[in-house]
Amino acid sequence: MPETKAPDTKDDFNLLKRYIEQTLKIQCSNYKEDYIKRRLLSRMRSTNQATYSDYLYYLKGHPVELDPLRNALTINVTEFFRDTEVYNLIRTALLPELFRQRKRILIWSAGCSSGEEPYSLAMILSDMMMTNKEISAQIVATDLDEVILAKAKAGIFSEKAMQKLNEAQIRRHFNKMADGSFEAKQHLKDLIRFRPHDLMSGVPPVRHVDLITCRNVTIYFNEKQKDSLARMFHSALVPGGFYVMGKTEYLGREVEPLFSAYNNIQKIFIKKQ
Ligand SMILES: C[S@@+](CC[C@H](N)C(=O)[O-])C[C@H]1O[C@@H](n2cnc3c(N)ncnc32)[C@H](O)[C@@H]1O
Repeated sequence: MPETKAPDTKDDFNLLKRYIEQTLKIQCSNYKEDYIKRRLLSRMRSTNQATYSDYLYYLKGHPVELDPLRNALTINVTEFFRDTEVYNLIRTALLPELFRQRKRILIWSAGCSSGEEPYSLAMILSDMMMTNKEISAQIVATDLDEVILAKAKAGIFSEKAMQKLNEAQIRRHFNKMADGSFEAKQHLKDLIRFRPHDLMSGVPPVRHVDLITCRNVTIYFNEKQKDSLARMFHSALVPGGFYVMGKTEYLGREVEPLFSAYNNIQKIFIKKQ
């Protein structure tokens, strides 16, 4: 008789979850259980593990699996004003510098996930535009994942997602809904165009861009893909345009000569002439 495996129990799932929480320091309880299960199943398929307990055993014996598992679990993770220092620089230095050069600017938020990044930029721009009626801007926000992009376009955020915002920001830029969630007001939505786009396609969805934010996306790319991405950004930017990366990301050796460092710690670069 063929051997049949005992199906997973709730305990098997909980044991795996606890191991992930302790080892990767990812709070699984912050996510919906379905989301965690879907991500785990994709890693279980890739490593040929049939059950949660098999996968737990495999994980303990193969620490190299921790990295792809972390990436699978955090694939769409984002937040408003992720890394405060970077957004402070965007607000106080990058945007004022760009508006000194021209009255209308174009921004590309590449790999925007559920929209917190472009909506953060839109809040900064909207505040600047309130005090200076001569300036205007357009943000093009793109992602490969059309499901997450539809969520971004709807602009509806849970109360938990709003924790990074202060009362004044919430009041000015969001409407509270009957179910306790918050919807971005029309003046923010009007600043952003959401579009599906694959960053590996090699063709930018927009050109003559003044500022590109592509943050916490390249962890899924190999070195060659990262270099092509930097070349694509270089071709999409205006001379002197800014490229803002995630804090743990870096420019490859081959593409370093295309940019000069504006701020090495916050990973902000400028397209060379
Ligand atoms: C961790 S989120 C980062 C969101 C935001 N940029 C931030 O820093 O908070 C990574 C996003 O990159 C997107 N992504 C991954 N590979 C991509 C690709 N080849 N083209 C476009 N988007 C991609 C994923 O769908 C995901 O929404």
